[in-house]
Amino acid sequence: MSLGQCEIFEVGPRDGLQNEPGEIALEDKIALIDCLSRAGFRRMEVGSFVSAKKVPQMAGSGDVLDRIARQAGLRYAALTPNMRGFTDARAAGADEVAVFASASEGFSRANINASIDESLDRFVPILEEARHIDVPVRGYVSCVVVCPYDGVVTPAQVACVADRLFAMGCYEISLGDTTGAGTPDSIARMLLAVRDVVPVGRLAGHYHDTNRRALENIDASLSLGLRVFDAAIGGLGGCPFAPGSSGNVATEAVAAHLAALGYDTGLDATILAEAAQMALALRAAAAATP
Ligand code: HMG
Ligand code: MG
Repeated sequence: MSLGQCEIFEVGPRDGLQNEPGEIALEDKIALIDCLSRAGFRRMEVGSFVSAKKVPQMAGSGDVLDRIARQAGLRYAALTPNMRGFTDARAAGADEVAVFASASEGFSRANINASIDESLDRFVPILEEARHIDVPVRGYVSCVVVCPYDGVVTPAQVACVADRLFAMGCYEISLGDTTGAGTPDSIARMLLAVRDVVPVGRLAGHYHDTNRRALENIDASLSLGLRVFDAAIGGLGGCPFAPGSSGNVATEAVAAHLAALGYDTGLDATILAEAAQMALALRAAAAATP
């Protein structure tokens, strides 16, 4: 019996590849995205318009967007930290963008060199312009359980930032367990607080699998009503500004888990397996480059 639909938002080509230490050829990124594009996703994050000095792996995001074979019905997304990033992402053809804030001051400073308040102020003009030209904007909140710089983050801190992003017009709030420290209990406490201020149908779980608890955290989230989860093919990645954090939970594992529970993701397991192989080969090749 089907329990209904669950969506996986693929973030591997962005959150995954941004953290690979070696060089990744543009052709390899494009081949991975083109393979993923055939798997049945509705949304996929494929790049970031950020400082190339801070995140060198995302430097070619404009070329990526220009050269991928676009699949009808699939929205290609990019991270945009400021107005310049938004303008560049739109010029490159991003269908939607994401702004990204942190629930903790330490990570906000390390990641985007701004306090939480400063970062939210920067997002206001992006949201205004996006509304004007009808571009969907997603909002991330990082460090929803633990910050690598400030330690434990309270559910109230997360709810406050999620509320502000939603109020400024983000259509969905993705809740990032950046360090992968979350447990079903801490994730549930955080979600109960956030659910009070943002409708649960507008929330997504973005769980890194550092402690191998992401699938359990997804189960806790499902029982509280979430139906959208971010994941990275092959479990690629991590965050360059969260030392020790490993990749997002692997897309193919989440898809298999949701299917076993009875949810419909609309994803093709054979193509996911092919893409996961490509992701792992790409990681191995990057690691081998000097
Ligand atoms: P800044 O240092 O405050 O200052 O950067 P700036 O505005 O003076 O810019 C510094 C340099 O970046 C300058 O270049 C700018 O031109 C350039 P320079 O003069 O040094 O050659 N610059 C840009 N270049 C390209 N595109 C732009 C842009 N803006 C400025 N849009 C800034 C602030 C946010 C730009 C910087 O700190 C930055 O790029 N940070 C990278 C943040 C990032 O991408 N982090 C990883 C993604 S977040 C994440 O992974 C978490 C998430 O997955 C959820 C979760 O897991 O929790 C989303
Ligand atoms: Mg992440």
